[in-house]
Amino acid sequence: MRGSTIAGIGHYVPERVMKNAELEQYVDTTDEWIVTRTGIRERRIAAPEQASSDLGLEAAKEAMAHAGVTPDDIDLIIVGTATPDMLFPATACILQDRLGARKAGAFDLSAACSSWVYGIAVAHGYVSSGLANTVLVVGAETLSKITNWKDRGTCVLFGDSAGAAVIRPCDPGQGFLSFYLGADGAGGPLIILPAGGSRLPASYETIERGQHYLQMNGREVYKFAVRMIPRAIQEAVDRAGLGIADVDLFIPHQANIRIIDAAAERLGQPREKFYVNVDRYGNTSSASVPVALYEAVKAGRLHRGDVTVLLAFGGGLTWASCALRWTK
Ligand code: UT7
Repeated sequence: MRGSTIAGIGHYVPERVMKNAELEQYVDTTDEWIVTRTGIRERRIAAPEQASSDLGLEAAKEAMAHAGVTPDDIDLIIVGTATPDMLFPATACILQDRLGARKAGAFDLSAACSSWVYGIAVAHGYVSSGLANTVLVVGAETLSKITNWKDRGTCVLFGDSAGAAVIRPCDPGQGFLSFYLGADGAGGPLIILPAGGSRLPASYETIERGQHYLQMNGREVYKFAVRMIPRAIQEAVDRAGLGIADVDLFIPHQANIRIIDAAAERLGQPREKFYVNVDRYGNTSSASVPVALYEAVKAGRLHRGDVTVLLAFGGGLTWASCALRWTK
């Protein structure tokens, strides 16, 4: 089997910045509580007319330019999102049309905050097996559209953004070195958007009960994350035949600075080896890891030959990690 790697990466964040002080007007919270409990100082909010595909389109274009590929080169488009433009058609099909990727298959992947890392695992499978040469993997989210702005337990946490990568073949031993995907469906109710599907179709009652908003048991998800992250990182490293000290940079899902701090401590790794931007964007679900990776590359934190571990976790419950030797 040939290898596969990230040949190009892109991102998009909406213009509107919402600082913690603004949230003090909507719910009983303070900037001080949000900063100390989460590390978040501000987040980006999409314009009313912007849907997830609008954010994803900009990220995809930048990733394709970075990789030097045209729309005709793309064999497959995977969009990881918990906030698709609509239940169907898939947001990936909307992107396929708007990019003019006439030869590409397209589907959405639903693994909540883990969707983008799940997506690059699928892309690796396609590319390394020879089923595809060029796969576009987008993580695009407008969490602000499913946020209950009266629930202080969730509305301070989330933001909107998109990240994208183009996956192409490379020599074995370069690019992706390992993947580890997991799920625990029994934990599904911990992060849930109850209504609007076939179990609880949209009705006046579901609207009145606020069941079209994201609901979360933050404390339980926190415990799950702190337990899971060190295990998932270690698993990716083991499967790559590396030691934890061989990793140059960790790129974790940006949900809460305390979760990242706890993971660093449990792994006995310096915090400086963990890329952090949760202070500027909050939790942007499937877009979180690709946007962090994009920024780390632009900031010169990742050089050709360096090893990074990408790590995501979230609703499902799901988690996903991978070790990657950076080839760009
Ligand atoms: O990508 C999806 C993954 N999701 C996550 O990773 C979320 C993981 N969980 C978390 O990050 C944290 O659990 C939270 C940030 C959601 C909450 O932090 P916490 O330290 O676990 O707080 P808590 O839920 O234990 O609540 C402590 C107190 C409560 O008040 P009482 O019952 O002690 O009087 C809450 O009502 O803080 C209160 N509280 C708030 N106070 C001010 C909860 N949210 C707020 C708020 N402002 N926004």
